[in-house]
Amino acid sequence: MSFNVSLLGAEAKRNEIVARTLNWWDRNRRDLAWRAAPGETPDPYRVWLSEVLLQQTTAQAATPYFQAFVAKWPAVEDLAAASHEAVISAFAGLGYYSRARNLHACAKEIAQRGGRFPSQEAELRTLPGVGAYTAAAIAAIAFGRRAAPVDGNIKRILSRLYALKDPITQARSAIAAAAGALAPSNRPGDFAQALMDIGATICRPRTPDCPACPLSEVCAAVWSGVPEAYPGRAAAKVRSLRKGAVFFAHRADGAFLARRRPPRGLLASTVELPGTPWTSKGPGGAWRDGAPVAARWRKLPETVEQVFTHFALTLTVYAAAVKDAAPDGCFWVSPDGVGEAGFSNVMRKAVARAVGRQ
Ligand code: ADE
Repeated sequence: MSFNVSLLGAEAKRNEIVARTLNWWDRNRRDLAWRAAPGETPDPYRVWLSEVLLQQTTAQAATPYFQAFVAKWPAVEDLAAASHEAVISAFAGLGYYSRARNLHACAKEIAQRGGRFPSQEAELRTLPGVGAYTAAAIAAIAFGRRAAPVDGNIKRILSRLYALKDPITQARSAIAAAAGALAPSNRPGDFAQALMDIGATICRPRTPDCPACPLSEVCAAVWSGVPEAYPGRAAAKVRSLRKGAVFFAHRADGAFLARRRPPRGLLASTVELPGTPWTSKGPGGAWRDGAPVAARWRKLPETVEQVFTHFALTLTVYAAAVKDAAPDGCFWVSPDGVGEAGFSNVMRKAVARAVGRQ
């Protein structure tokens, strides 16, 4: 269409955006594991599960997790009946572990309700781990309700469409208003998923591919000539630093000592290498205090780095051959069981550093 869209009134512009977006979706939708085929009725369990797994990660990263979950637990009742450890382990590596706990709690609640998810956004929001975004996504995608899920990608698209110069954190209400006004009553789920796909593949943060975008003709940031300048950037966050030591105590058969973290707090219930607390000063000369057993510890040359929300962590890894039985609170993990053991990302990195370097 080549008429001058800047002359359109607000409502006509909204209709134009929705029509272009849906038209693009019909030809270009990504074929993702959790998506119902065109014309197929979506399964609310798969929609809910995918949205929880996708919180704060990409479709690419979430896909193997989604496939493993539905292979192990094809229905919400199956997930509800799983053990806590099995769910935490299947989730490990996906980020915040309170989310795994909430996922399981939500499955149990839905199972108690006869396996049926509520279809209204407000009721969905009362479920464990279901916030505003996830409730709106489920209501729109699984139940065809008019709802406007607004994740980071969609915030960026809306900031650009309307040339909102403020950093996203300061433009919340303008973005929410724009999203609410745009959400169509016809095909709201397709519209939301189309925006998700455009955000992930075209309207990228630093390198938007405007020529490929169905919305470029109606996009105020494109008219400005510098679409990548929207939204404005917030000042960089200053993170504190913490240091710690972890210990890779391995037997002759390759098995090594691990332990499970407490059920509350950072990385709750995940499996880790034994080690010192993580502090701003670091263990210093007291690093041996974190060792699970006395041994001839060797410091590995490379540290492990991980950035968490509130701090950045540097772990020094020590390795030693040991013969003793596992001390209280520790257990043996065999090298081919690492993937299934429930290690967090940072501990997977530490294990990978140590394996083959003992
Ligand atoms: N990110 C969050 N939810 C998504 C979905 N349903 N499809 C693609 N990317 C997503």
